[in-house]
Amino acid sequence: MSVDLEPVAPDAADFIAALEAEQLPTDDLTASDRSFFRFKRDGAIAGYGGIELYGRSMLVRSIVVLPQARGQGIGRLITKGLLEHAAAHGAMDAYLLTTSAADFFETVGFKRIQRDAAPPEILSTRQASSLCPSTAVLLMMPIPHNIQPSSRIPS
Ligand SMILES: CC(C)(COP(=O)(O)OP(=O)(O)OC[C@H]1O[C@@H](n2cnc3c(N)ncnc32)[C@H](O)[C@@H]1OP(=O)(O)O)[C@@H](O)C(=O)NCCC(=O)NCCS
Repeated sequence: MSVDLEPVAPDAADFIAALEAEQLPTDDLTASDRSFFRFKRDGAIAGYGGIELYGRSMLVRSIVVLPQARGQGIGRLITKGLLEHAAAHGAMDAYLLTTSAADFFETVGFKRIQRDAAPPEILSTRQASSLCPSTAVLLMMPIPHNIQPSSRIPS
C-alpha cells in the first residue's frame, strides 16, 4: 500500500473540517514556518498532516486519518511522509504533542519525553505553549538518516 501527498492550503475547507471534527487546532495554521499536506490513497482523500520546521528540529502536527480510512496503516504512512519531507529540509529530530494519540505515535517510533528535554524552539511553538493543555504528552523521535523524500510513500 502507498499514499500520495500533495500540499494543502491552510484554509482549505476539507482540511479545516477534518481538523475540527477531531478538535485539533485550526487557528494557528497560516504562519510561514509550517506546511500542510493532503494524503490520498488510490485517488481518494485518506487524511492530512503538517509540520513546523525549526532548523534541525521539527514539530509534527495536524495528523488526521478520515474515520473510514483508519486502522489500515495510513496514519503510520502519513507520519512517515511528514518525516521524509522534513528530513529533506534538514530536520533531524521530530517532536509532537498529543492529548489523545500518544500510544499510536509510540507504535511509529516516538518516545515520550519530559517537556524540559525539548529544545526551546519546540517549547515556544503555539502548540506547546498554548494550544495543547498542560496534560498533553510530548514525544520525540530522531529522524532515521536513510529516510528518503518522495511524493509517494510506500509502506
Ligand atoms: C491516530 C490516528 C492518526 C491513527 O491513524 P490510523 O490510520 O488509524 O493508524 P494506523 O492504521 O497507521 O495504525 C498504526 C498502528 O498504530 C495503532 N494505533 C492506531 N490508532 C491507535 C490509537 N489511537 N492508540 C494506540 N494505537 C493505535 C494501530 O493498531 C497500528 O498498530 P499495529 O501496526 O501494531 O497494528 C487516527 O486514529 C486519527 O486520525 N485520530 C484522530 C486525530 C488524532 O488524534 N490525531 C493525532 C493528533 S496529533
